Amino acid sequence: MGDILHKAPDPQTPEELYRLYRTLSEELREQLAQIENDKHDLEVQMMERVGNLESRNLELREQLRQLEADKRYIETQKIRYEREVRKLKSESEQLRSPPLIIGTVTDVVDASRVIVRSSAGPRFLVRSSPSINADDLKPGARCTLNQQSLAIVELLPSSFDAQVYGMELVDSPHETYADIGGLEHQINEIKEAVELPLKRPELFRNIGIDPPKGVLLHGPPGTGKTLLAKAVAHETNAHFMRVVGSELVQKYIGEGARLVRELFDLAKKKAPTIIFIDEIDAVGASRTEANTSGDREVQRTLMQLLAGMDGFENRGDVKIIGATNRIDILDKALLRPGRFDRIIEIPLPNEAGRLSILKVHCRSLNINDDVDLTRVAGMTEGKNGADLRAICMEAGMFAIRKECSAIRQDDFEAAIAKIGLDFNRGPAGVEGEMFA
Ligand SMILES: Nc1ncnc2c1ncn2[C@@H]1O[C@H](COP(=O)(O)OP(=O)(O)OP(=O)(O)O)[C@@H](O)[C@H]1O
Ligand SMILES: [Mg+2]
Repeated sequence: MGDILHKAPDPQTPEELYRLYRTLSEELREQLAQIENDKHDLEVQMMERVGNLESRNLELREQLRQLEADKRYIETQKIRYEREVRKLKSESEQLRSPPLIIGTVTDVVDASRVIVRSSAGPRFLVRSSPSINADDLKPGARCTLNQQSLAIVELLPSSFDAQVYGMELVDSPHETYADIGGLEHQINEIKEAVELPLKRPELFRNIGIDPPKGVLLHGPPGTGKTLLAKAVAHETNAHFMRVVGSELVQKYIGEGARLVRELFDLAKKKAPTIIFIDEIDAVGASRTEANTSGDREVQRTLMQLLAGMDGFENRGDVKIIGATNRIDILDKALLRPGRFDRIIEIPLPNEAGRLSILKVHCRSLNINDDVDLTRVAGMTEGKNGADLRAICMEAGMFAIRKECSAIRQDDFEAAIAKIGLDFNRGPAGVEGEMFA
């Protein structure tokens, strides 16, 4: 507007003044409109900015929420990992901690002092952990000892060796009396001596006799002693514990005897029980002047066995079956009545026996009509059950070799010749003698 004032000549007349006034007001109005316009533009711009900022704010707030959730998640994760670290640390600590010694309480002196025998042998007077109930500390209890102070750390729950638990047959074998050929008399004897007292004890009570405590099966190898015991295990409902004589021979002094004692204790606990000791000659050999500490240990085990067999009530529900093929070397004390009351001989099968064993093993075989098992039985003089089974198998092999669908008589004859050959190859004159 200054421009106009400058440019315009000084008004001389009222008309000129009026014209100037008109121009100026015109100018002013224009400028006002311009300003109005600018203001509107500015307002629109501002509004737009505010809108932008608001949406940005929302966005940021959303991000913040997201981050906070992430943070919470990570924090819980961290707590979890920390817990895991603690657990693993304590676990590794446990793994690194020294092993505990196993001992047996032999005497309780007073509330805090106990005499224990460590498994290595020597006896110690030690203190027991305060967490152990004083009433549970009884002589004979098994416990764990700290390596340095030998203090009792905890008491062990069971006094039975895992090996003894392992002797119990959980799944009964699938052999039955029907799988045994030609031993009817022996099966009857064992039924009478083992099954009958367990099933019908009143019969014995009525007559007033003590049922037999145990039976001993003896005879040449491969005649079915183990098989017979398996069938007894299958047919009876009693617990069945099976141990091989050689398992009772242990490395350390007294361990074998302890195993026998625990075996009998567990059997008594679980009665009715049948204990089957296979190859009993491993511990039951006649006691002579023992030369080595090993011999003496075996003899101690035998003595424990004798004591264990005496220790039961006569009508008790624990029966013992022993099996051996060297009855001649067994200790006389084992054989006396009261221990093994019945000694059942399982001889080599005669012709009729061989025939029924062959029938048992041929039951599942595919056999031609021309096969005469009676003849086969006649040709296998002196063979035992295991041989006859092998003959059946070999006959099957011959038939397979010829790609026949059934086994024929000549397959059996070839098998007999082959099995006979295998046996005759062994060194002569060793029968009945043990290798020293
Ligand atoms: N009387 C039998 N009836 C059927 N099969 C038999 C007979 N005797 C032996 N066998 C067969 O021979 C195999 C071996 O028999 P088993 O293990 O009972 O012999 P064992 O008398 O215990 O011999 P060892 O004294 O050498 O231990 C059995 O698995 C079975 O197949
Ligand atoms: Mg056997």
